[in-house]
Amino acid sequence: MEIKKDAPVEAGKMEKIIALCKRRGFIYPGSEIYGGLSGSWDYGHLGLMLKNNIKNLWWNKFVEEKSDMYGVDASIIMNAKVWEASGHTASFADPLVECKNCRKKFRADHLGGEKKATGERDLPRECPECGKVGTWLPESNFNMMFKTNIGPIEDKNSVSYLRPETAQGMFVNFKNVMDSFHPRLPFGLAQIGKAFRNEISPRDFIFRAREFEQMEIEYFTRESEWEKHFESFRKEILNWLADIGLGKDSVHELEIPPGDRAHYSKRTIDFEFDYPFGRKELLGLAYRTDFDLSAHIGKSGADLSYYDEETKERFTPHCIEPSFGLDRMILALLCEAYTEDEMGGEKRVFLKFKPSIAPVKVAVFPLLKNKPELIEKARSIYDELKKDIRPIIFDDNGNIGKRYRRQDEIGTPFA
Ligand code: GAP
Repeated sequence: MEIKKDAPVEAGKMEKIIALCKRRGFIYPGSEIYGGLSGSWDYGHLGLMLKNNIKNLWWNKFVEEKSDMYGVDASIIMNAKVWEASGHTASFADPLVECKNCRKKFRADHLGGEKKATGERDLPRECPECGKVGTWLPESNFNMMFKTNIGPIEDKNSVSYLRPETAQGMFVNFKNVMDSFHPRLPFGLAQIGKAFRNEISPRDFIFRAREFEQMEIEYFTRESEWEKHFESFRKEILNWLADIGLGKDSVHELEIPPGDRAHYSKRTIDFEFDYPFGRKELLGLAYRTDFDLSAHIGKSGADLSYYDEETKERFTPHCIEPSFGLDRMILALLCEAYTEDEMGGEKRVFLKFKPSIAPVKVAVFPLLKNKPELIEKARSIYDELKKDIRPIIFDDNGNIGKRYRRQDEIGTPFA
């Protein structure tokens, strides 16, 4: 396990990636024609294909290649009692500080780092927004769940939340899956879907958004075997990241000390990536113990235990959770793939995606667009290839050099 080091910050690279994403139809600012909406991003045609490729590769590796995994696609809006049981209502909060002068709110740890032994933080003397000195109100905790009301009456009985993690959709379906498929331990549930967090300060493009997607696994095991499965997921995660193009040099493991772990975790490893704005969390692997199933047993009264036919024992399974942020994965792949070079004085940009990740797999061009026989030949190659390889593009716009440039810029591996 390595010691955490800060990756060098690459000035200007993020701006170039964000501009490329918008120009070429990967990712647009959310609600842009109304001035945008902080922390929301819309995926365009190429971004969507990139996202679908990652989801499919993940599902294939962590669900379909296995014989002990079951998929779930649960509702985003869940009964509020789910979040009381899971501990999110009480403690899914970030530290918040507010400037007395301009009322701007900031995440206290982003502004002043972690708390010192004295319980204080090194907050800056001046507010970064209004520049006034010494104006901080006392720190408070801000719950990050998006609250809404179900039905026409807005009172405390109709309160509900958009899910802040997909995980609970799996814990609440544990019994359903047991009743439908009668799996033996160890087995896991997997889900890909949206999660919502009212982040105090969304930032760094799709890295910290208010609406994002997760790809999560809840893997149930006997308590005595959690370390074995934790270790095997650790290796599988590293292998899968390398398979899709995130190599050893840019991915780093960070063992999270007890005081910094989520309330449900007895061990967490963060897998971090060297983003242009520094080394930051890409995904997490946590040992959630029997915290969630036990909490739901306590709150709902449902029987979420497991009966072992061989040992004749009944117990609550323990859980290992690999939790991948899909948008952070997309951003890492874009950052890893982004390359600039120069040829004949001309600056060129290209994305070096692996073919399995590339949104477009092949492009076919006629060498010249005013020669009907070349166009006909190129069309017939395009039609033939399209039967087996998709997505594929036909392009006869501009000169041949420009057509290659356009494909390089979106990471098409073959033209
Ligand atoms: N079920 C466990 C869980 O949700 P987490 O560390 O809070 O754990 C898991 O989140 C992953 O979700 C993170 O590693 C990250 O990839 C992604 N994620 C969390 N907050 C995010 C945000 N505001 N924007 C984009 N991705 C986020």
